[in-house]
Amino acid sequence: MSSDVQLLKESLALIEPAHDKVVGYFYAKLFVENPGVRGMFPLTMDLQRDRLFRALTSAVQGMDRPEVLVPMLQQLARDHRKYGVRPEHFAAVARAMIGAIKAYSWGEWTAETEAAWHRTFTLIAHTMIAAADEASAQPPFWTATVVSHERRTDDIAVLQLRPDQPYPYEAGQYTTLESPRVPRVWRSYSIANAPRRDGLLEIHVRQVGAGWVSGALVRHHQPGDQVRLGPARGATVLDRESTRDVVCVGGGTGLSPMKALVDDARRWNSARRLHLFFGVRRREDLYDVQALQALTVRYPWLTLTTAVSHDPEYPGEQGSLPDVVARHGDWQNHDVFVSGSPDMMRATVARFRELGVSADRIRYDVFTDSLY
Ligand SMILES: Cc1cc2nc3c(=O)[nH]c(=O)nc-3n(C[C@H](O)[C@H](O)[C@H](O)COP(=O)(O)OP(=O)(O)OC[C@H]3O[C@@H](n4cnc5c(N)ncnc54)[C@H](O)[C@@H]3O)c2cc1C
Ligand code: HEM
Repeated sequence: MSSDVQLLKESLALIEPAHDKVVGYFYAKLFVENPGVRGMFPLTMDLQRDRLFRALTSAVQGMDRPEVLVPMLQQLARDHRKYGVRPEHFAAVARAMIGAIKAYSWGEWTAETEAAWHRTFTLIAHTMIAAADEASAQPPFWTATVVSHERRTDDIAVLQLRPDQPYPYEAGQYTTLESPRVPRVWRSYSIANAPRRDGLLEIHVRQVGAGWVSGALVRHHQPGDQVRLGPARGATVLDRESTRDVVCVGGGTGLSPMKALVDDARRWNSARRLHLFFGVRRREDLYDVQALQALTVRYPWLTLTTAVSHDPEYPGEQGSLPDVVARHGDWQNHDVFVSGSPDMMRATVARFRELGVSADRIRYDVFTDSLY
């Protein structure tokens, strides 16, 4: 297998300059040879159209690290059930992918390369089909009804959703959501509460630019509307066995999973201190601060610091989250959780590392749908 990986990496390096054309060829071949499959994909194949293709190539790159690759493929497979993927689709995807790579290999294609690609796809397909099969007791997706919709700012809304059947997840995880207004386009949203007896899920959504799904959720959805949810994912989960204090840093709607961690800790914590930082650009973006302040009154182990980065008149903490966090203490012995935009995350995680926090104590799920 290690010689296969080497061969496949060389094969991928060869097609890299023609990446966009290879992706175009891949989808054209997939849809022409399997017209039924087209309906599983979004109407407009936008910039993100190469996610499937890129994931396949990154899976190949990771073949020599099965301890990382296998859980990633298993998670993807559980998640792919919501698209309606069936075992026979893997052969169709493999044919299209191998055909596309071969077409752009400029005469360097050999029988050996082709055999290596087939072996690799067979392995990937077996792993994903087995994981999807193991998950078959769960629904492929959940239908959820919007039970409340509150516009907190011009571009932020807080929604409560009621799934039609029990939705398993842990505090700090995120769901993927499809709005009927934008069929087959799925986006990730963190769940802002720990699992509750009544099954309600709260999500905090900020509309980004002309964003398709965030725009629908913030501006158009109303109580009574239905959306679909994929299975929960994510790694920002509190370790109850740990005795360390906790620091949670949420930028904008990155507050959402941090709020779920506080909600979780409410149920079992009394000894560990939890310091929550909530950072925004403008003071009017502190969209959930009243609820957070009420929690600090009730739970003496919880401390809240709000920070505003673009308002020199703001009477509280000013500055970017990494700077504010660094001013507030020594975090070396804490469990650290960070959530927000990719830039905020990069800067905050880097600052914690500079402050001496080891990488294995820092947990985060970046707010981007790109895998890379
Ligand atoms: C793990 C995870 C958790 C997430 N949790 C939340 C959450 O709790 N709340 C929340 O509001 N969002 C969250 N997101 C982001 C969310 O999944 C969508 O990416 C976001 O709502 C934009 O989707 P869209 O369809 O509206 O925009 P698109 O139609 O995909 O994009 C429209 C335009 O906006 C740009 N754009 C996309 N995302 C951003 C961004 N974050 N900042 C600036 N420009 C952007 C795109 O480049 C494009 O030009 C999370 C993402 C991930 C991966
Ligand atoms: C062979 C292994 C495969 C890998 C590694 C893979 C990977 C991915 C990834 C990473 C995404 C992005 C969204 C997400 O994270 O869920 C995706 C989306 C998708 N995949 Fe797969 N996939 C594979 C096989 C398949 C197969 C066999 C089908 C069936 C035709 C399929 C259909 C889809 C669809 C419909 C989407 C959504 C498209 C979009 O949002 O643009 N995938 N895939």
